[in-house]
Amino acid sequence: MTILKNHSLLNYNTFGIDVTAKYLALVNSLESLNLLLSNNLYSNEEKLILGGGSNVLFTQDQNSLVLLNQIKGIKVESEDAKSWIISAGGGENWHDFVLFCIKNNYAGVENMSLIPGSVGASPIQNIGAYGTEIKDVFEWLDAYHIPTGEVHRFLHSDCNFGYRDSVFKNKVKGEYFIIKVAYRLQKTATLTTSYGAINKALEEMNISIPTLKNVSDAVISIRQSKLPDPKQIGNSGSFFKNPIIANQNLQKIKENYPQLSTYPVNENESKVAAGWLIDQAGWKGKTINNYGVHKNQALVLVNYGGATGKEIYDLSSEIIQSVKEKYGIELEREVNVL
Ligand code: FAD
Ligand code: EPU
Repeated sequence: MTILKNHSLLNYNTFGIDVTAKYLALVNSLESLNLLLSNNLYSNEEKLILGGGSNVLFTQDQNSLVLLNQIKGIKVESEDAKSWIISAGGGENWHDFVLFCIKNNYAGVENMSLIPGSVGASPIQNIGAYGTEIKDVFEWLDAYHIPTGEVHRFLHSDCNFGYRDSVFKNKVKGEYFIIKVAYRLQKTATLTTSYGAINKALEEMNISIPTLKNVSDAVISIRQSKLPDPKQIGNSGSFFKNPIIANQNLQKIKENYPQLSTYPVNENESKVAAGWLIDQAGWKGKTINNYGVHKNQALVLVNYGGATGKEIYDLSSEIIQSVKEKYGIELEREVNVL
C-alpha cells in the first residue's frame, strides 16, 4: 500500500482546495486497511476517510491519516425472480457503477447518473437526484469499525436514512470505513420520468418508450446544463440542503414571497428550494476574487482556482445570514467542512 507524507490534497477534492495531509494512504483492500490501522505508528493519528472528495470543503491542512478508499470489485451476490443483489467495492466510482448497471439492465440507479464520488460514500448522505435516493435501492453494507478492527454489516434499518442524511453522518460519524455496498436492482424497470425536466428532455430526444440508458442520458443532459463540471470549475454540488419547514410557518413566508418554490414532504412539512432563496436574495453569479456563487445554480458555490476553503466557508456564512434576515429560514450546509 502506498503511504504519502505531507502530501497535497489538491487532486483529491473537487473544490480544488490546496491543503496537505499529514499522511495519505491509498487503501485498496480490507487486508491492507487492517494492516495499516494495526500499525502502532498510526494508532494515535486522527483518521479521515476520503472517497472522490466531492462533498468536502477543506478549510485547513489535515493533520491526520487520510484513508483514500480505492477498494474495487463488483459482484452479483444473489438473484430472485424479480431482482438482483449487486455489491460494489467502496472505492468504485459511483457513475461507472451506474453505467455498469445500465449496460446489464439492472434497474433502479439510472436517475442517479453522473453524481460524482465513490460507491462507499453513497450511503453517507443517502445520495439522491431526480426522484430517487440510495435508500430506495440499498440492501446492506459492510464497514470496518476503526476503533476495534471488526467488520460490521449494516442492514437498511440500521442506517437511519433521511434526506441527505444517515447514521454515518450522526451517531457513528467517522467510526466506520465503508468497504462494500450492496444494492437491490430490478429485472423489470419502473422508470421515474416525471421528476424535473426528464420527460421534456426525453421528448427533445424523440423518445416515447424510454430505456434505462435513455433516462440516464436525459438526466446527464439536464445535469450538464445546470451544474458546473468540477474538472473545469471547482465545486461540491449543492453547498446547502433544501430546508424542510412546517407548513404553518411556510404560509406566513409565502404571504410575502408567493413565488417561493416548495415541494410537499409529508402532511405537515414542505421542502423549500434553497437555490431559489439564495437566487432571490441576489447572490446568483456573484463573484469575489476567484470564488463565488455559480451563475446557473445559486445552490452551488464555486472556486475558479486558488481560493481557500476558509474564503468559501466565510461566503457560505454570509449567505446563511442573508437568507435568514430576508426570509427567517436557516440554511444548513450539505458539504462536510473539514
Ligand atoms: P467524499 O467527498 O470523499 O466524502 C464525503 C463524506 O463521506 C466525508 O465525510 C467522508 O469522510 C465520508 N466518506 C467517504 N467515503 C467513505 C467511506 N468509504 N466510509 C466512510 N465514510 C466515508 N450529491 C447528491 O446526493 N446528489 C446530487 O445530485 C449530487 N450532485 C453533485 C454534483 C456535483 C457537481 C458535485 C461535485 C457533487 C454532487 N453531489 C451530489 C455530492 C457528492 O457527489 C456526493 O455526496 C457523493 O456521495 C460524495 O462521494 P465522495 O466519494 O466524493 O465522498
Ligand atoms: N432555483 C432557482 N434559482 C437557482 C437554482 C434553483 O430559482 O439558482 C429553483 C429552480 O428553478 C427550481 C428549484 O429551485 O424550481 C429546484 O432547483 P433544481 O431542480 O436545480 O434542484 P435543487 O433543489 O437545487 C436538488 C439537489 C441536487 C439534485 C437535484 C435534482 C439538494 C440540496 N440538491 O437540487 O443534488 O441533483 O435536486 O434532484 O437536495 C447535491 O446534493 O449536491 C445535488 C446537486
